[in-house]
Amino acid sequence: MTIDLSGKVAIVTGAAAGIGREIIETLAREGARTVAIDVDATSLERLDLPAADHLSVACDLRNPDEISGAIASVIERFGRIDILVNNAGVAPGGTVEELPVEVWDANMEINARGTYLMCQAVIPTMKAQKSGRIINAASFAAIVPSLGGSAYAASKAAVHYFTRVLAGELGPYGVTANCYAPGMIPTGINHFADRPDDQKEALLDSLTLRRWGDPKDIAHLVCFLASDLAGYITGTMIDVSGGKLATQRPYQAYKEMDVRGT
Ligand SMILES: NC(=O)c1ccc[n+]([C@@H]2O[C@H](COP(=O)([O-])OP(=O)(O)OC[C@H]3O[C@@H](n4cnc5c(N)ncnc54)[C@H](O)[C@@H]3O)[C@@H](O)[C@H]2O)c1
Repeated sequence: MTIDLSGKVAIVTGAAAGIGREIIETLAREGARTVAIDVDATSLERLDLPAADHLSVACDLRNPDEISGAIASVIERFGRIDILVNNAGVAPGGTVEELPVEVWDANMEINARGTYLMCQAVIPTMKAQKSGRIINAASFAAIVPSLGGSAYAASKAAVHYFTRVLAGELGPYGVTANCYAPGMIPTGINHFADRPDDQKEALLDSLTLRRWGDPKDIAHLVCFLASDLAGYITGTMIDVSGGKLATQRPYQAYKEMDVRGT
């Protein structure tokens, strides 16, 4: 049983940094031809992928014209689109009472509306091919939200339910749509690893597997969902959080292990 993505054309948004960068590098190692989309043109240039099989497109997902242009350039270069990973995201926050409307809009525009616009742009191609994989970044915040994260949680819950409808609409065309819910992976979006030790310990205490997530944890799932092995999985959200809050106090198991010394 192997994951074979040879020759598949895979688009990853938010590919210049963090989880997206790991996803695109992993897809490339598995043989996919890759397209990196990101608003950060400078970081995009730092990607080191084989030029013959790679295209980088600077694109702001808030702008529908830029998205149309990006997808047109993918078709011109590779002639097809097999995999779309809507990974780009932002997470500015604040209490509901003080949340500026611009912050609400940024979460909605990039996380939810950007995902919808990207999907809309690739659907005609995937329908014509009668095949395709769409994989969207939701968040553990779509399962249990954080205080101060109302706009982010709402945008990611929107991604989840959007993905379910998308799966229903595209099922007859052999296109699957799923999303993943990362828990706590230290990146530029959250700076978990830079917090004071007591805060870090408290965060780790919520995890059944009691370690930070690694971008690879997401990249491996994405490769599986993108492959033929996952052909019967659609309309789901997969929790990749190390079992965050799988039980109410997962840290108790670690305390008991310490007490027993085993
Ligand atoms: N890191 C985590 O623990 C975690 C947890 C839950 C969900 N997620 C989700 O995973 C995804 C990746 O997060 P990350 O941790 O790698 O974050 P990150 O900040 O490291 O990377 C996000 C990328 O998205 C790009 N981006 C932002 N706005 C954009 C726009 N308007 N147009 C195009 N690109 C844009 C950024 O330039 C950046 O390269 C996000 O959707 C995030 O919400 C992450």
